[in-house]
Amino acid sequence: MAAFDPEKEIPHHIAIIMDGNGRWAKDRGKPRREGHRAGAVSVETALETCGEIGVQYLTLYAFSSENWKRPKSEVNALMGLLAHFLKEKTPTLMKNNIRLQVIGQIDRLPEKNRLGLQKTIEKTADNDGLTLVVALSYGSREEIVGATRTLMEKAKRGEIDPADLDTETFSRYLDTAGMPDPDLLIRTSGEYRISNFLLWQISYSEIVITRTFWPDFRRQHLLDAIGEYQSRQRRFGGI
Ligand code: FPP
Repeated sequence: MAAFDPEKEIPHHIAIIMDGNGRWAKDRGKPRREGHRAGAVSVETALETCGEIGVQYLTLYAFSSENWKRPKSEVNALMGLLAHFLKEKTPTLMKNNIRLQVIGQIDRLPEKNRLGLQKTIEKTADNDGLTLVVALSYGSREEIVGATRTLMEKAKRGEIDPADLDTETFSRYLDTAGMPDPDLLIRTSGEYRISNFLLWQISYSEIVITRTFWPDFRRQHLLDAIGEYQSRQRRFGGI
């Protein structure tokens, strides 16, 4: 793997599928929730590293639309972790000039989480350093269908002409409206899948898969993934 070079291009937007928390815990004979707890520490490390090297957007897949199918105890543990993270880390987000945003079907989250998120989003709205985007109850297909539904309703009311629809207009109806597309997508734990994450937005992203389980993913793993990104030649369909 090519070494990270701070002089070379730093990806503006990094998206991460944080995978392997459950297996990390299983390997240690611990309950799955301990894997998620350890994973929250990796979130902090990733935030620090991205802030330090000048990444502008970090999007983390924290809870998918499909994750609601997990046992209630695990869903509760994840929601508890999120609430704890917001309560404990909002001052750190403020200190480090980090803005919080969310994507996904937030109205499906418990009220406590919705209120906590709303408070931190409002509080950090004017921070202009790194933007942390947390994907919660997020599914890319659901997001695309939602955007399509809104556009169809507008067309029905005569507010938009279907002939005028192009990719740029469509993007503005996604949860990620206004955000740059990810330059780099990282998935941990060695799985080669996208799992309904940012299907539209990753059209031209560079993908790096690492075997490391998310709770073990440290600063150097992130720098290695960026080093790999820096060694790639992006052509966006050209030559
Ligand atoms: C995937 O591992 C991980 C998740 C579904 C949850 C990720 C959540 C956190 C790291 C919690 C903290 C997040 C924030 C933003 C505070 P898995 O459980 O699918 O692992 P497995 O494939 O080994 O079972």
